Amino acid sequence: MLYFQVVILSATLMMVYYCEFTDTFSPAQQGFICRDAALTKPDPGPEQDSLIQPVILYSVVGGLPVVLISGVELVIFLLHYNSNNLYDQEKVVLMGDCCYVNPMVRRTFRFLGVYVFGLFATDIFVNAGQLVTGSLAPYFLSVCQPNYTALGCQDTPLFVVQSDACTGDPDDILRARKTFPSKEAALSLYPAVYLAMYVMCCIGSSGGRLAGPLLSLSMVSLAVLTGINRVAEYRNHWSDVIAGQIIGAAIAVFLVVFVVQCFKKRPGMPLSPSDAGTGNTDEVSAYINRTMETGDKYVVSQSPGSCTEVT
Ligand SMILES: *[C@@H]1O[C@H](CO)[C@@H](O)[C@H](O)[C@H]1NC(C)=O
Repeated sequence: MLYFQVVILSATLMMVYYCEFTDTFSPAQQGFICRDAALTKPDPGPEQDSLIQPVILYSVVGGLPVVLISGVELVIFLLHYNSNNLYDQEKVVLMGDCCYVNPMVRRTFRFLGVYVFGLFATDIFVNAGQLVTGSLAPYFLSVCQPNYTALGCQDTPLFVVQSDACTGDPDDILRARKTFPSKEAALSLYPAVYLAMYVMCCIGSSGGRLAGPLLSLSMVSLAVLTGINRVAEYRNHWSDVIAGQIIGAAIAVFLVVFVVQCFKKRPGMPLSPSDAGTGNTDEVSAYINRTMETGDKYVVSQSPGSCTEVT
């Protein structure tokens, strides 16, 4: 089962590599209207000149979840080390008789693994959208520099479809053809929503009534501001940013609800080896005792990443 997940993760990683670091795929060639006011904003320059530099954005997107999730899991582990509340269900997990893995480490890897998968998925979605639509950036005509005399549209607005209409730098033009949806908006809102939901269901109200909501809202606000900054710098249209944010948020919500199953509470389920993890603690202990007495060996699996409320 673990093997299968590693294969899926590697496949998505490979797709991300092809989208980001090779020019295997090229965007659709969209035409434009001569002197279209929506496309004649000044060229904001390469991404490095942005207020929110890519190196900072991607360090936060990659680093913050690792720090936050391992930190929270460590605190939960230390708080509940002696009270057998939280991990009772997970302590019984035998890894095929060979080894016992600390439940804290298991949970941390589970949350981070799903996070990384979602990050790759978001990136693939966004790249696919950009390539299929080939939507033009607000500064497209500034880098395209079409020769209006040669195109014959000095006076009349004309829809230009010629693929050789541009005379500007090809790399800049390629950059200006990949805007819908906004990658920065999607890749900032995805971590924010994922971590906000993680914080809300794993910290809950244990850090005071407002600590969790404050942390969550701060992360989401910063992510939304990152998107607004794209519009302010003329790098994206509003529609690009909003579409990117919807994609990022939707993937995060989908993964947390259906894959990590934070909000899934299934009380009173019949106890079987496959869903022992969701039963209540007494039933699980009784089940383990029965198993011990009869001498059977079971690998008791539990639902992935069930968040137990910390009280
Ligand atoms: C634009 O095209 C016209 C006609 O083909 C040509 O005479 C002119 O030199 C071109 N201008 C530029 C800047 O390339």
